[in-house]
Amino acid sequence: MVDIDKIKSSIEGNCFISSVHYLKEIDSTNTYASDKNISVDSLIITDHQFSGKGRLDRSWESAKDLNLTFSIKKRLTLSPAENHFLVCFVSFYVFRTVYKELEESLTENELNKLFIKWPNDILFDDKKICGILVESKLPSNEYVIGIGINCNQKVFSSGIQATSIFNITGKQVDINNLLLNLIDSFSENFKELLTSEFENIFKKWKKTTKIIGKVCSFDSGNGTITNGKIIDLKADGSISIQTGETLTDFYSGDIRITGFD
Ligand code: BTN
Repeated sequence: MVDIDKIKSSIEGNCFISSVHYLKEIDSTNTYASDKNISVDSLIITDHQFSGKGRLDRSWESAKDLNLTFSIKKRLTLSPAENHFLVCFVSFYVFRTVYKELEESLTENELNKLFIKWPNDILFDDKKICGILVESKLPSNEYVIGIGINCNQKVFSSGIQATSIFNITGKQVDINNLLLNLIDSFSENFKELLTSEFENIFKKWKKTTKIIGKVCSFDSGNGTITNGKIIDLKADGSISIQTGETLTDFYSGDIRITGFD
């Protein structure tokens, strides 16, 4: 459960988060954060998000009290061509924070199963542990960064390829400490975005994807590729997939890793 007093006293008023909004339950923290009355630098967090939004119009399931579901509202001057660097930044530091949490319980070989699946899902083996939804259709360069981390949930609806930190380590996660570690990490490194260190952000993100060379299926919205080989991830946000002799760059879509080449 969210310990709102601890969260507020640890982060409210620092230079990264100026106010914390806690809701016992809410449909979606992203929808709540998008409201024009919510100021930038706010953190919105709930114990029970009952209608969470995912990428590509999907939903995000999260059981009451067991996980982290929150959004951060930020103002950033990024051009449309730079938006994906925010996604890289967020997924890299979520990856790193979750990695540190797992590090206490897993061997290096096991830790290698944690990776970022293009563009920003965090998976352990083939199961999703974190989802990130960055929304930018807001005025004045405002972004809502929505993050869901499966912490202590044991069972997920059938048909959802998901797992949690608890299911991987067998240990209860202190969700408040995990959130504070993540906010620290964002706040320490946010200058990378403010000073346009995009190449540096991209390099770190690319290293943690671990998907180049793997075989995948890919749904671009206009059709599906099966048995494609991932050739590269490019700094313009695209993924290059080879099928037979054809190499195609995609800028959005849904990828599923199906094997190694
Ligand atoms: C995805 O994997 O497709 C993205 C899932 C993003 C889920 C988070 S949970 C907090 C925030 N509020 C939402 O409605 N969605 C994001």
